[in-house]
Amino acid sequence: MTLKPLRSALYMPGSNARALEKAKTLPADVVILDLEDAVAPDQKAAARSQVAAAVAAGGFGAKQVVFRVNALDTPWGMDDLKAACEAGPDAVLLPKPNSGDDIARANDAMARAGARSKTRLWAMIETPLAILNLPGIAATAKHPGSRLDCFVLGTNDLVKETRAELDKDRTSALYWLSASVTAARAYGIQVLDGVYNAFKDAEGLRRECLQGRALGFDGKTLIHPDQIATANEIFAPAAEEVAMARKIIAAFDLPENKGKGVITLDGRMVELLHAEMARRTVAIADAIAAKG
Ligand code: COA
Ligand code: MG
Repeated sequence: MTLKPLRSALYMPGSNARALEKAKTLPADVVILDLEDAVAPDQKAAARSQVAAAVAAGGFGAKQVVFRVNALDTPWGMDDLKAACEAGPDAVLLPKPNSGDDIARANDAMARAGARSKTRLWAMIETPLAILNLPGIAATAKHPGSRLDCFVLGTNDLVKETRAELDKDRTSALYWLSASVTAARAYGIQVLDGVYNAFKDAEGLRRECLQGRALGFDGKTLIHPDQIATANEIFAPAAEEVAMARKIIAAFDLPENKGKGVITLDGRMVELLHAEMARRTVAIADAIAAKG
């Protein structure tokens, strides 16, 4: 099993040359070079060239590089998508899809733009319609030739569109968050939690990362380098969890347990499904260790 960790995904404005350069040295698992919300309309074209050049030049090491384009029905979207496909990032991140058809259209546009096979399609989940249409959006991951393999929650946009007010437990967002994780898992898609805006509030970020992990997210999107260490720590399996996972795998591998569906380990029932979970935990831990 080879898995790429997605603990921390740092956004940066594509118009900010300094941030793009700095990104190369930061310990985030993913960098999201943004042409959408973080870039003003009169800077869109310059930012597009700058991001395309940075992606094509590389130098991001083990980090996955994601190119966030403008929505395809904006004046910039198609040009962004073409530039992204040419530059060859690990993924193109599509803002504001509302339906499976929007994903299929982006997927087709990527094929027409000659996207490399390694370039995946990631989708923001950030509109009320996307929440209502989650099963249809997620199901497109199983279409032949689909590149869709990650959802990214856009909680700021969802707050704006629904007029929900979030308390510190994000009570009014729980439906969006759980529905997104459930739809993602139903179709083998990875899923990243939304950003924590108060980037000087380390405790608040920690609480929200713990909540995101408990909800089933693979990692958190971030807006500031100071947030990376916390997300990396919280979304990595803890040492005890990895040790237990190795113990479970070893127990099922014992000759006397071969072919069994359920065994007893340390006085607890352990099923084959736990061995599967354990293998995933170990694969993630190994992938993180390999990054150094
Ligand atoms: N990516 C890479 N580097 C970043 C960064 C980011 N998201 N945010 C800040 N930095 C860098 C700064 O360039 C600065 O580098 P330097 O010390 O080498 O000059 C350093 O980190 C410290 O930055 P700081 O002064 O604390 O922050 P700021 O006031 O310059 O910027 C924000 C604050 C919120 C404007 C900035 O963090 C940002 O643009 N975040 C991303 C916003 C975004 O992309 N939003 C869209 C998706 S929600
Ligand atoms: Mg958004």
